[in-house]
Amino acid sequence: MERTLVLIKPDAMQRGLAGEIIARLERRGLRIVAMRMLHMDEALARQHYAAHEGKAFFPGLLQFITSSPIIAAVFEGKNAVEIARQSMGATNPAQAAPGTIRGDLSIDTGRNLVHGSDSLEAAEKEIRLFFQEGEIFSYERSIDPWVFE
Ligand code: RTP
Ligand code: MG
Repeated sequence: MERTLVLIKPDAMQRGLAGEIIARLERRGLRIVAMRMLHMDEALARQHYAAHEGKAFFPGLLQFITSSPIIAAVFEGKNAVEIARQSMGATNPAQAAPGTIRGDLSIDTGRNLVHGSDSLEAAEKEIRLFFQEGEIFSYERSIDPWVFE
């Protein structure tokens, strides 16, 4: 079982696509184990995107990701990191396959709707930036969701 961090970015929130994105990841087979709406500040954005510091798009990325409220979520499942990335599609929506979130719903790299951790190590680090361990839930005591017996 893996966990991955998903961000519903400002463009998705403004366009009313949060539900669509969450639904696609749920339908794929990933399960929500943590979720919160927040407005990222610059310090959090710098930490989250530290790997991109110094790149030409970094200032614009910081400005954009801090520009409006977002949803942060942790999704859990087998190969969750790779599965979520695949469902999101390539970073550049022009190269994202039809059927993916970015390929179906976006047209510009700087407005690609969604973030997904790109490795297990990144996922662990990113999840810790947004959630405390006690805020991540478990379904281990869940019972038959269809039938009451
Ligand atoms: P993310 O981290 O947001 O899930 O996206 P990603 O892994 O697919 O892409 P990454 O290389 O990590 O880039 C992070 C975000 O920076 C913006 N970007 N803009 N204008 C550009 O050339 C450019 N390149 C990257 C995108 O919003 C990308 O998602
Ligand atoms: Mg990335």
